Amino acid sequence: MKIYVDSADIAEIQNGLDLGLCDGVTTNPTLIAKTGKSMTTAIEDICNIVEGDVHAEVLSLDAEGIYKEGKEYASIASNIVVKIPMCHEGLKAVKRFADEGIKTNVTLIFSTSQAILAAKAGATNVCPFVGRLDDISIPGNELINEIATVFNNYPTMTAEIIVASIRNPLHVVEPAMAGAHIFTIPAGVLKQMENHPLTDKGIAAFLQDAKKFV
Ligand code: E4P
Repeated sequence: MKIYVDSADIAEIQNGLDLGLCDGVTTNPTLIAKTGKSMTTAIEDICNIVEGDVHAEVLSLDAEGIYKEGKEYASIASNIVVKIPMCHEGLKAVKRFADEGIKTNVTLIFSTSQAILAAKAGATNVCPFVGRLDDISIPGNELINEIATVFNNYPTMTAEIIVASIRNPLHVVEPAMAGAHIFTIPAGVLKQMENHPLTDKGIAAFLQDAKKFV
């Protein structure tokens, strides 16, 4: 299992590193926009502190444009993964990158059929969005179950599942039971995963009782 930080914020990423909970980082245009930096500067800053995979998303929607943009990102650092939105032209670019040994993440996956095509085209990662499915009353975790089942049926399908759009700890626990490989977690959810009221209550009781020591 790998845990990624789903953020372009250096402080949040550094916190993940300090905890030993940052095997990589996923970004997207929305997260980069929040930093107030250019795409290139934001990705460079992340690559300066993260040794694991750093996912940089292309904006082009034609295969040639995706390829050019992806090659530029890949030239920033050796740990770049080119993140490509699921689409017909994107699949063509995935195949080209795979032939060149450049890692790709096919993102915005909302169905098992999309995940199958991305994996077969040669994607390193497929990235289903659980939270956005839940938002429209379709159980996101069930999608992870389906994709994991299909990939397990075909050992030659080596693409790893990155669970994305995580909104709460159950978006980690249930896909983990299904065998998803990677969980890209926002800082707030990471914090929620640490906490349990009985832990807080237990610590308070132990500290209280320690006052009775002779
Ligand atoms: C990560 O790769 C995704 O872009 C991200 O998890 C999307 O999260 P959101 O649905 O909360 O925007």
